[in-house]
Amino acid sequence: MTLKVGIIGVGGIARTHMPGWAASEHAEVVAGSDINELALQKWANDHSVQKLYTKAEDILNDPGIDIIDICTPNRYHAPLAIAALRAGKHVICEKPLAPTPAEIRDMIAARDEAGKLLMTAQHFRFKGNSRALKAEIDQGTLGDIYHARSWMLRRAAFLPGPGFVLKQHSGGGATIDIGVHILDLTLWMMGNPKPIAVSGIARTELAHMPGQFSVWSPNPIPPEWDVEEFAAAFVRFENGATLILEVSWLLHHDTQGEDMQMWLYGTRGGSHWPNAIIYSTHYETRQHINQTLQITRDTVEPHALECIEFASAVAEGAPSPVPPEQSLQVLTILDGIYRSQTSGKEVRLDL
Ligand SMILES: NC(=O)c1ccc[n+]([C@@H]2O[C@H](COP(=O)([O-])OP(=O)(O)OC[C@H]3O[C@@H](n4cnc5c(N)ncnc54)[C@H](O)[C@@H]3O)[C@@H](O)[C@H]2O)c1
Repeated sequence: MTLKVGIIGVGGIARTHMPGWAASEHAEVVAGSDINELALQKWANDHSVQKLYTKAEDILNDPGIDIIDICTPNRYHAPLAIAALRAGKHVICEKPLAPTPAEIRDMIAARDEAGKLLMTAQHFRFKGNSRALKAEIDQGTLGDIYHARSWMLRRAAFLPGPGFVLKQHSGGGATIDIGVHILDLTLWMMGNPKPIAVSGIARTELAHMPGQFSVWSPNPIPPEWDVEEFAAAFVRFENGATLILEVSWLLHHDTQGEDMQMWLYGTRGGSHWPNAIIYSTHYETRQHINQTLQITRDTVEPHALECIEFASAVAEGAPSPVPPEQSLQVLTILDGIYRSQTSGKEVRLDL
């Protein structure tokens, strides 16, 4: 049986999912929904999709659909996912799963009531270098990981549209837009230890400067921009591990576009991502060893691969490839950064 997929929000990221659904042996896209009728029609023409809905409730009530793929701005993820699960659909949803931990808890409850799968589209987990490093770490190569340093820093690279820079649509700025990528990857590599406290800041310093721009867009920065562009945090975990995180859309940093890195430090070794290098020591010979892992080239683009693997999980009755419980951890930390910014203190995390 081929699973029938309906996409809600047919903008930029939905287009990166299409090759995955096309390549899946288990699924095909049969319907789309968007509040922008012109965009919906263009997308439908490009991909030869017949069933089009300008109201999300109509695609959710279509009995011919098994999987809903949510690609709208962040604020609409939770209401749409909950409605889709209640309508008996499996759901794959773009990152962040939702902007707040409370919404993710509601999504998990709806998933449990429906008995369907819910997955967060964290595509960085599906890259060859991520998988090679994760496999190595899971074998114990690093020993106990007791510290991590992660960052995703951009030099004026962001999408200035309302879905990203207006809180009413996005729920937040760089912290939840890109912090969610590097933090999800870091926690996954660390084995998802339970976070217990965070001290952080989330600020806007450069966005409203005259002449400010994004290298990704000719569009001006909207004056109504009301989200943070920069965040930094120190996180403590229940197992004693710690993490330093830095995130920015707009920073006078030495990068063309984006600098995204993760360093992990354990009792037996350290590692670097994206280079997939393991650092260890041979004490008998006083040698420091830097081993670059063998990486299978990404033959399928990771945004596509996440859709292929979600369809396989649904078809085979396997667990969600990216469990929402792990996204709850991520958003609890990111929400803690906002709370710590407000209070000026380290905040305890309630998980
Ligand atoms: N994984 C990644 O690499 C990645 C990259 C970019 C964006 N994203 C995520 O994808 C989501 C969408 O981002 P995008 O870049 O595609 O934005 P976009 O603005 O290009 O597309 C969003 C689409 O959703 C539609 N829309 C808005 N509200 C809607 C609603 N209530 N119901 C139905 N349709 C609605 C818009 O008309 C638009 O066509 C965001 O959550 C973003 O965080 C992920």
